[in-house]
Amino acid sequence: MRHFVSMQDLTEQEILLLVKQADNISIHGAQPLEKQLFAANLFFEPSTRTKMSFVVAQRRLGLNVLDFMSEVSSVTKGESIYDTIRTFESIGANLIVLRHQEANIAKKLSEMIKTPIINAGDGTGEHPTQSLLDLVTIYQEFQQFRDLKVVIAGDIKHSRVARSNAYALSTLGCKVYLTGIAEWHDDSLSYPYITMDEAVETADILMLLRIQHERHQADSILNTNDYLQQFGLTVDREKRMQKHAIIMHPAPVNRNVEIEDSLVECERSRIFKQMQNGVFARMAVIQSLLNEGGNYHEKTNHKRQ
Ligand code: CP
Repeated sequence: MRHFVSMQDLTEQEILLLVKQADNISIHGAQPLEKQLFAANLFFEPSTRTKMSFVVAQRRLGLNVLDFMSEVSSVTKGESIYDTIRTFESIGANLIVLRHQEANIAKKLSEMIKTPIINAGDGTGEHPTQSLLDLVTIYQEFQQFRDLKVVIAGDIKHSRVARSNAYALSTLGCKVYLTGIAEWHDDSLSYPYITMDEAVETADILMLLRIQHERHQADSILNTNDYLQQFGLTVDREKRMQKHAIIMHPAPVNRNVEIEDSLVECERSRIFKQMQNGVFARMAVIQSLLNEGGNYHEKTNHKRQ
């Protein structure tokens, strides 16, 4: 693996190896890398979880972190993203973590840049490390993926998380369904749509999405109170979920819009567990790209961190 930009690039075996490597790190931790290496975190869109969990992952692996703020960088003088990345490459960055508003930009750049690039979310394109941490969370719950029914619910059309997860989950043999407002259906994803009521009653995993207000037109159709009642997860709907079913959400959460406030930390919610797994998933990706700790050996019967 030279870059980590799309879940579509990975085979079932490659995804499983990364999931198990991240789960192994969650139990045993990881040795710091032996060489002195530098990671550049280039975030052109806002982020809390992804950016900070990359920093924690990098520091745990002993990487030197080159922080970057586009608003006080030479991007403001018109420097292109390609030239910005080539600059970091020239001054010694060994790894580029990129979040950008343009869909598919990480893939395009990965074809021009030698230094490993990790896509930390590209517009409505993909968010593969979010997908990996979601997969780790599912694996910890169900110990496998085949035939699990996963319903991805909400703003499908504008969601890079939906795209990466739909690709990865179907590669792993899950049954993937979508639900949400018809205006936000995405014809490029060929998975069946069901109603929210069918979703809550039949899903093993209900994966809620954030409404991507920043990617909507000004004349958005949204009335947030109606949205919760018609398409969101209310307390009444949660009661109808299967006993073993879990709730996921990539966060940040619009409380009382996608999900009723009191459910964000309910027993079946894995939302903060997902964030915790974000560090382990990102450590596994960094190890794999930098060819350290690549020989994963499964170990069991140890407590998670
Ligand atoms: N889930 C996610 O990508 O969150 P941030 O935008 O805070 O990184």
